[in-house]
Amino acid sequence: MADKKATLSVHGANEPLELPILSGSEGSDVIDINSLAQHGLFTYDPGFVSTAACMSAITYIDGDKGVLLHRGYPIEQLAEHSDYLELCYLLLNGELPKRAEREAFVEVIKNHTMVHDQLRNLFSGFRRDAHPMAIMCGVVGALSAFYHDSLDIDDAEHRTITAHRLIAKMPTLAAMSYKYSIGQPFVYPRNDLDYAANFLHMMFATPCEEYEVNPVLAKAMDRIFLLHADHEQNASTSTVRLAGSTGANPFACIAAGIAALWGPAHGGANEAVLDMLGDIGDEKNIDKFIARAKDPNDTFRLMGFGHRVYKNYDPRAKVMQETCREVLDELGIEDPMLRIAQRLEKIALEDEYFIERRLYPNVDFYTGIILKAMGIPSTMFTVIFATGRTPGWITQWIEMIAGGYRIGRPRQLYTGVSRRDYVPLAKR
Ligand code: SDX
Repeated sequence: MADKKATLSVHGANEPLELPILSGSEGSDVIDINSLAQHGLFTYDPGFVSTAACMSAITYIDGDKGVLLHRGYPIEQLAEHSDYLELCYLLLNGELPKRAEREAFVEVIKNHTMVHDQLRNLFSGFRRDAHPMAIMCGVVGALSAFYHDSLDIDDAEHRTITAHRLIAKMPTLAAMSYKYSIGQPFVYPRNDLDYAANFLHMMFATPCEEYEVNPVLAKAMDRIFLLHADHEQNASTSTVRLAGSTGANPFACIAAGIAALWGPAHGGANEAVLDMLGDIGDEKNIDKFIARAKDPNDTFRLMGFGHRVYKNYDPRAKVMQETCREVLDELGIEDPMLRIAQRLEKIALEDEYFIERRLYPNVDFYTGIILKAMGIPSTMFTVIFATGRTPGWITQWIEMIAGGYRIGRPRQLYTGVSRRDYVPLAKR
């Protein structure tokens, strides 16, 4: 890191403070403010708009240029040439696998896809109409109760097998949460199927007849997982890191990440986009919803639009739009929601309000249309996002635990009442 400095002159201080400026391999420099506490000074940055919480070598986003790199590789190239499990390997190991490494990794993941049969009992404690995300928060956190043999977070082998178990078991648990919600029996994973095909088989097969997975849909599903795999220090990844900084076991940390992802401002947006397109219902209503999105007194926001980092097109949204076209063509579906979405996007991108605020479609804008076309209910959309994001969460957790960390404990600006004495009841 170069020895660049920032000088801070503070009201009431005799001397200005010198703060080191740190440079990464890509992106903006950062001012290291860690020493401010020694001077009784703290910074204030709700929402962490200007705050880097860690160093990381996994994923890089250039929001102005709409660039997303995983271990240096552009997401567009990975979406075109790679597949989800290869990206999982790349995130975890930092390099693309050679053929033998790739085959070995796929084999390892296949051999962890089943869950402990006693986990089935956990599902039966939920109402049948429970939101699948509620189930996923519960069952993923509960995995720690089944793997006492590998919970030493300081043991690299325990961290690795936990990563493998989570990547392998998330689709199984996701499909189980869907099957439970529709009252159908769970379908066991099949090791003769690839990752995404296996997921679709567990989602849609029944014991009554053979279920043939459509290879075009399996490829689309694999690409959806791939596009969601990791995304720097987003809200759910930051939750995983903060939970991990207390030394909590990785299953509990991933469950915390799943809970954070559920919100409509984050991973819940894909479900909210479909609800929004349903509420719009017809292209003639688009202008009314655009006006609501622009109205400062209306809490309505255009779901699937805007991003804290991307101030240009989310590169994942572009790939997702192409995938959407492929899936609808394969299924011979003319979904009016796609037309509404495309019209909505066109109008918004020409509107001063969205241009001025640099609001573009994000990864969630088209995902829901694809998943709906595949017969997946909107309540499962964020579950699929969580499944796709698992390698990112666990890789970021490993990077923190293996690299040295302190417990995360933000400060605050206190605006409450100053000290006062207790008033006995008789005197109130
Ligand atoms: C994901 O961080 C990640 O990397 C997340 C993610 C990942 O892969 O992990 O990329 C996945 O979460 C994508 C985002 C999904 N969320 C949505 O699509 C929900 C709709 N979008 C927003 O709520 C919003 O854009 C956020 C939450 C995504 C970003 O919020 P910010 O960065 O805090 O921006 P902001 O709320 O300060 O908005 C800035 C301005 C405001 O207007 P003004 O007060 O300046 O007048 O833009 C407006 C906002 O009102 N605005 C919108 C809007 N998003 C922002 N106005 C209408 N519709 C929107 N969608």
